[in-house]
Amino acid sequence: MGKDVIVACDFAGAAETFAFLDRFSGRKPFVKIGMELFYAEGPEIVRQIRRRGHRIFLDLKLHDIPNTVKKTMSVLRDLDVDLVNLHAAGTRRMMEAALEGLTRPDGTRPMLIAVTQLTSTDQTAMEEDLWIREPLELVVLHYARNARDAGLDGVVCSPLEAAKVHEACGAGFLTVTPGVRFADPGRAPDDQKRVMTPAEAKRVGSDYIVVGRPITAAEDPVAAYERCLREFCG
Ligand code: C5P
Repeated sequence: MGKDVIVACDFAGAAETFAFLDRFSGRKPFVKIGMELFYAEGPEIVRQIRRRGHRIFLDLKLHDIPNTVKKTMSVLRDLDVDLVNLHAAGTRRMMEAALEGLTRPDGTRPMLIAVTQLTSTDQTAMEEDLWIREPLELVVLHYARNARDAGLDGVVCSPLEAAKVHEACGAGFLTVTPGVRFADPGRAPDDQKRVMTPAEAKRVGSDYIVVGRPITAAEDPVAAYERCLREFCG
């Protein structure tokens, strides 16, 4: 897997999702299916998008006891997606169990990455709500090392953290980064607090960028997707 743009299909249902994907005619972007769409439509939406020839990041962020996560991962394994994720906060044991569940009898498996701290969690929320007193950046790196030690392939993180994660966990450890916005004057970052352009994300070494609204809400989503590709992969 090389550098690529993953399009976050944050739509409420199948009809809207397919109308969006149809606009790409021959192109097959790598797509992210999140909780909203998955819970609305069930696993069939994954199979349908797969049949259309897209690579899929199934963003369900599992977090439960190791046995439950292991058994759930073996269900997701059979959906034949490319990338799945979980919360590193579930502990190393949970991550190891997840890998066991995800691995097929022939040894192949989808890639597995961990969420360290959500980009919506800031230092204050972490200290006051979670009672974690260390600096946010150290917590992110600690969770990333846990994920690496458990055998995972990488983490979801802010593009601002990508270089540090590579330093701590090795260049081959994947950084998948949301929080991407074009450098257009007057363009609001929506609810993303810390953003980078696709070109900046490339410079700091992100392996994949996850882009939602800058593509899905664009007047011409295909042009916006191509611009992302040019800036990030070009
Ligand atoms: O529309 P936008 O580009 O902000 O979409 C970013 C996508 O990445 C959304 O699907 C969001 O849920 C996801 N994401 C995120 N921050 C994280 C993890 C996932 O924005 N830390």
